[in-house]
Amino acid sequence: MTSRGSVLVTGGGSGLGSATAVLLGELGYDVHVAGRTVENLAAVVATIAGRGGRAHAHELDVRDADACERVVDEVVRLSGRIDVLVNNAGLFRRGSVTQATSEDWNLTIDTNLTGAFYAARAAAVRMREQEPRDGCRGHILNVNSGAGLRGYAVGAAYTASKFGLMGLSDALRQEVSVDLVKVTDVVVATAVRSNLSSRTGVRRLPAESVAQMIAGVLAMPGAAVITRVDLEQLPEG
Ligand SMILES: NC(=O)c1ccc[n+]([C@@H]2O[C@H](COP(=O)([O-])OP(=O)(O)OC[C@H]3O[C@@H](n4cnc5c(N)ncnc54)[C@H](OP(=O)(O)O)[C@@H]3O)[C@@H](O)[C@H]2O)c1
Repeated sequence: MTSRGSVLVTGGGSGLGSATAVLLGELGYDVHVAGRTVENLAAVVATIAGRGGRAHAHELDVRDADACERVVDEVVRLSGRIDVLVNNAGLFRRGSVTQATSEDWNLTIDTNLTGAFYAARAAAVRMREQEPRDGCRGHILNVNSGAGLRGYAVGAAYTASKFGLMGLSDALRQEVSVDLVKVTDVVVATAVRSNLSSRTGVRRLPAESVAQMIAGVLAMPGAAVITRVDLEQLPEG
């Protein structure tokens, strides 16, 4: 199968990230999954390889700026270029503004916002150096949440991190569109099955819904940029 380009998925070992990695592997992308739990990454790589795709695992803590640069360099070394970054790694710690611990606040901001910044910066620097492919040098997709659009009282740090990610995306889009790099906010504005979203009593979409949304965004050819997609679900019929 001819490669459709290379894609790095942070948090690619579980949930939305692994579903996205598997689908993009099936579609013919050179897939790179990154995260801290190497066993999860190895399982995703094995699934993609078992379906005839190409995949690589990279141990990564997105809170480490140097490690983000090393992984992006490794993607370029193995695949020749980095076409897509799916900035997906994230976590949720429950706590309102008055209840959140400083530790949970810092962990959430460091992972969901600063980690996304480190990965996006490392990828954007490499993308703007490479030759355009179908009119585009690269594409960064930031996985956001309904909590990036309106406050979620019991997830104060999460809300702040995702509002921040929306701002980071907007600033990045303004900076790199001139370099032919696309930036898309993937807003998951409903509950989707994953480790992060395990509450009972809430109807959740399968993680594959997000994978399909991301594949749809990447299917848009040429100069057209989808700046934001929102995923919601119908009420129970
Ligand atoms: N599920 C939902 O309903 C929902 C809704 C809206 C938005 N989202 C967003 O979707 C994204 C993926 O979450 P998910 O629902 O799929 O949950 P998940 O299954 O818990 O996946 C999160 C992934 O992020 C990785 N990760 C966490 N901290 C990391 C770090 N410091 N460095 C590298 N990787 C790290 C985790 O792997 P390791 O722990 O192995 O590193 C894990 O694979 C998140 O950005 C989340 O905010 C989810």
